[in-house]
Amino acid sequence: MATMSAENNRPIGVFDSGVGGLTVWRQIAALLPNESTLYVADSINCPYGPKSAREIETLATGITEFLLAEGAKAIVVACNTASAAALSALRAKFDVPFIGMEPAVKPAARATRTGHVGVLATTGTLRGELFHHTRETYANHVTVHTQVAHGLVDAVERGALSGAETDALLAEYLSPLVAARVDQIVLGCTHYPFLMPQMRRFLGDGITLIDPAEAVARQVRRVLDARSARADGASVRHRFFSTGNTASMQTLLAHIAVPNAVIAPLQWDGNILRRQ
Ligand code: DGL
Repeated sequence: MATMSAENNRPIGVFDSGVGGLTVWRQIAALLPNESTLYVADSINCPYGPKSAREIETLATGITEFLLAEGAKAIVVACNTASAAALSALRAKFDVPFIGMEPAVKPAARATRTGHVGVLATTGTLRGELFHHTRETYANHVTVHTQVAHGLVDAVERGALSGAETDALLAEYLSPLVAARVDQIVLGCTHYPFLMPQMRRFLGDGITLIDPAEAVARQVRRVLDARSARADGASVRHRFFSTGNTASMQTLLAHIAVPNAVIAPLQWDGNILRRQ
């Protein structure tokens, strides 16, 4: 039988439709420095936003199977869209703790002074049950302005974090929220925090951007603590995998201060994810 520490030193699996989940991964790595991680970017299938819930569930299942085969002790669905479409199905199918994401409407509704809150997300997230439930539960007393931000995920996937094209998209999506007098904007997609400096430049000081990544990392810590499953830091290792463009992922990893990361290419074989 494996020893307790060998069990606990197994990695935390993290996945997203692409590189966006790295904005969550970096908070987990910062908060839990003793933990090893596995990160899967399904960039070949990105964006998930326009896909059907069934398609996303199939992809999320394949990625989960891969992460479990690599020894994951817990899995973070670092993607709002995949959480909306597949989290409950994943929990029903697999006997491993899952930590999911949803737009951080609750802190935004609590903090707003204008009574208007913006949510920037994908189509898939905004049509999901999870978002509607959260909105009903926590934001009944404020006006929630939703905005689908087509193209921003692609820009981040390409590593186009700045430039005229990205600025034009940001202006297109943020202007209606400014006009609606929001003072809080929830970043409801894990790709968007990569664009925070550009968003801040556009918005100025009066509007708060809310990224739930740190709260998700704290939830990961709570889940591990509840199971006495924290690693001891003896053999920390971070492994990165991508089904798509590894060079672009490398650039984004360097952007979040992980230079020289080795990214292993993965390939879909039907619904099964294999190393190339
Ligand atoms: N990072 C994903 C999310 O949080 C990206 C969405 C997509 O692939 O469309 O929703």
